[in-house]
Amino acid sequence: MAVRTILHYPDERLRKVAEPVTDFDAELARLVDDMAETMYAAPGVGLAAPQIGVSRRVFVIDVATGDDEPSDLRVFVNPEILERVGEVQNEEGCLSFPGVHEDVKRAERVRVRACDQHGQSFELEAEALLAIAIQHENDHLDGKLMVDHLSLLRRRLVHRAMVKRAAAVDAAE
Ligand code: NI
Repeated sequence: MAVRTILHYPDERLRKVAEPVTDFDAELARLVDDMAETMYAAPGVGLAAPQIGVSRRVFVIDVATGDDEPSDLRVFVNPEILERVGEVQNEEGCLSFPGVHEDVKRAERVRVRACDQHGQSFELEAEALLAIAIQHENDHLDGKLMVDHLSLLRRRLVHRAMVKRAAAVDAAE
């Protein structure tokens, strides 16, 4: 397993629509392992393959963030959100937007169908933080980002802050 480099906004690769997974092979298993390790190392509650520059429809989530909570790693391959119910507003962050926390409106509950890393199909009804994480990570597979849910003003502010941050990082390297 290996911790991969997480791409930061405004990296163009975050805007690509990811390709479906067709082979549930050793390469996919390695990708999923690396994604989980990268997410835990960050740390974060979710990570989508495009965030490490892999244009595949895969994301991992673990919303068990308490110190004493056992890990609850969930793997979603080729996910499809079948149903969205209700609306909630919650402060979100994203590993591709270090230091950014913004209120985003999402459905309160979702029903999702996906495969696990072995190709086994499953359906899941989720609510609360898990439902939000599923919607957030699923957006990444379509090249859609947290900022796309913000008002034009907030979006510009976040964009400027991230561009400035990227320039500072470049200058330091
Ligand atoms: Ni994200």
